[in-house]
Amino acid sequence: MIEFINVSKQFPGSETKAVSDFSHTIPSREIHVFLGSSGCGKTTLLRCVNRMETPSSGKILWDGEDVANLDKVQLRRSIGYVLQSASLFPHITVLDNVTTVLRLRNGKEDKKLSSAQIRARGLEMLELVGLNPDLANRYPAHLSGGQAQRVGVARAMAPNPSLMLMDEPFAAVDPLVRVQLQDLVRDLQKEFKTTVLFVTHDVDEAVRLADQILVLSNGAQIRQSGTARDLLTNPADQFVADFLGITPDRELTLGADNRVFSPDGRPLGKLSGGSQ
Ligand SMILES: Nc1ncnc2c1ncn2[C@@H]1O[C@H](COP(=O)(O)OP(=O)(O)O)[C@@H](O)[C@H]1O
Ligand SMILES: [Mg+2]
Repeated sequence: MIEFINVSKQFPGSETKAVSDFSHTIPSREIHVFLGSSGCGKTTLLRCVNRMETPSSGKILWDGEDVANLDKVQLRRSIGYVLQSASLFPHITVLDNVTTVLRLRNGKEDKKLSSAQIRARGLEMLELVGLNPDLANRYPAHLSGGQAQRVGVARAMAPNPSLMLMDEPFAAVDPLVRVQLQDLVRDLQKEFKTTVLFVTHDVDEAVRLADQILVLSNGAQIRQSGTARDLLTNPADQFVADFLGITPDRELTLGADNRVFSPDGRPLGKLSGGSQ
């Protein structure tokens, strides 16, 4: 569980707060999406969790523990982090990228893995994210955008973290691959019961992925919190309705099997849980 308690962040030299008095609780073992336009403070919120940023005020508890009191390096190694650019290390192979944290942690923490075990875990991760093990010895420059993102996901998940932070990880890949990657995240999250905090400005992506969505506006102001179903069927106000693309004369359709279609007939995804 992640608890944001009155978190504010004002960057030096800035007149407005990037995050203003944000309080919210994220339950464990689900995919929680922060949805909002560019500049509303999503990235800042994520970076406060793994202490890439320090809040100007307020605090963040991870399973009851203030992250400010945890060792920074250990904290970052125990949280999976995936960014829009996969940010792979260019001069080491795919396999070495995937096993980075395992190798860094080795000997310093509880478990000592042999290099054969680390290699096996890396290859297993490649398979899990749907990559051919033949790619293991390639360098990141020789991967497609979609492959690089899969490696990014494999690297983040290799230590089997209980928490993953994903910051618009698929924003730059083409729509078809993007859907595959979204399915991959859902499948892995289900399998490993990871808590995923996923940031996006893309409504379709949020609907596809989220157990819970938090709609944000500037200053990380909370506009609505709920399931995709809650938001789509009962937007809190005009801001949320506009953001989701719902207008009174163009209703969303809830189809068979809980599938949701946008006004122009595009399938948006499937709503989880509840009945209609
Ligand atoms: N390092 C920084 N220094 C100054 N301003 C920043 C910095 N990082 C983000 N901001 C500002 O904070 C606000 C929120 O940014 P960000 O969290 O990146 O939003 P989002 O991820 O939702 O696009 C924006 O106005 C942005 O310009
Ligand atoms: Mg951002």
